[in-house]
Amino acid sequence: MSSPEGSVIIREGSTELYVPELHSNKGPGKRIGRVFFNDQMSFNRDVSVMLLASSPKVRTALDAMAATGVRAIRIANEARPDVHMVANDKDAEACAYIEANADLNSTGNVEASNEDLRCLLAKRVFDYIDLDPFGTPVPFVPAVLQGLKRSGMAGITATDTAPLAGTYPKKCARRYGAFSQRSPFGHETGLRILIGHIAREAAKEDKGLDTVLSYYADHYMRTFVRMREGGAEADRTLERLGFIDYDPGTGCRTVSPERSSARSIGPLWLGPLHDHETLDSMRAGEGLHRRSRCEKYLELWRGELEVPFFYDNDELASLSRTSPRPLGAVLEALGACGRVSRTHFSPTGIRTELSYREVLDIYKTI
Ligand SMILES: C[S@@+](CC[C@H](N)C(=O)[O-])C[C@H]1O[C@@H](n2cnc3c(N)ncnc32)[C@H](O)[C@@H]1O
Repeated sequence: MSSPEGSVIIREGSTELYVPELHSNKGPGKRIGRVFFNDQMSFNRDVSVMLLASSPKVRTALDAMAATGVRAIRIANEARPDVHMVANDKDAEACAYIEANADLNSTGNVEASNEDLRCLLAKRVFDYIDLDPFGTPVPFVPAVLQGLKRSGMAGITATDTAPLAGTYPKKCARRYGAFSQRSPFGHETGLRILIGHIAREAAKEDKGLDTVLSYYADHYMRTFVRMREGGAEADRTLERLGFIDYDPGTGCRTVSPERSSARSIGPLWLGPLHDHETLDSMRAGEGLHRRSRCEKYLELWRGELEVPFFYDNDELASLSRTSPRPLGAVLEALGACGRVSRTHFSPTGIRTELSYREVLDIYKTI
């Protein structure tokens, strides 16, 4: 097969790919030519490769918005030559890239598909579905849930971080049916609003979910969730949703199952962000594109306490009317009184099971 017009060959991970010569290389990415490719999302794709390599039960997978097919072809080429992988895009030009890239890598297990994902998912079901839209995934979540097999897994990206993290609360309310507010931990509330939304959509179909891996990086939020079948599972999942009250004046945050004030952030997911058994099985193999970043994030995710919401060192210093203390000293002082960890959300973030009052009292003594 000949190369697509206007394409160049690049290497991402251990895979060679045709991509449009003009493509995005930073930020959320813009559609520069007809077919989309963003260099900066290579880490996002590395994580998919690592996770799929650790998910032996996945036998059929769909990259629902595949563009050049980079993710599907990398998974097939670098991790799972045994999986039947469908790479779909509604754009015919994108589909030509998918075919050319499958050919370039001789990946016999990649099937190119050229449909609106909602039509495709009305006909076929998969063990794993990846959803990577421009902006919000909300319009496509019902189709993805419908297209997952029993105990199937979905990987969902949202790049509309501003509404989710509280910059545009009205937009967040319209899209996600949740109230957002700016806070020092806004990326975490945004990620949890996204998971909460998926959980509420799943509950409508008597399905629950468990989180496998959820994170914020660069300009996007991403969650991998595993479906659990049945009304009881849906109820169990909904019980893990709640609200957080955050007072920007005092920094006080209170988590509660019900909305307790007009500024309560939520509904959002209060359960764990990760399945630590899965994280322990994941490896940052040599072929990954951004291997050292993968290693760093794996370590952060593994070490992260499953306590919702974190404190930022600068925020604690400002609330204590003092200058920021060295992060190591803060972790040590808090750690002497209760469990603490760092968080992947911020290099100066601290997770702890200690109460807001205890944290401030200890900070003032450092
Ligand atoms: C952000 S790009 C995907 C990038 C790709 N996953 C990657 O890693 O490079 C979104 C893609 O979704 C496709 N798309 C948009 N709406 C769609 C729909 N309803 N069904 C299938 N594909 C769609 C667009 O043509 C575009 O190629």
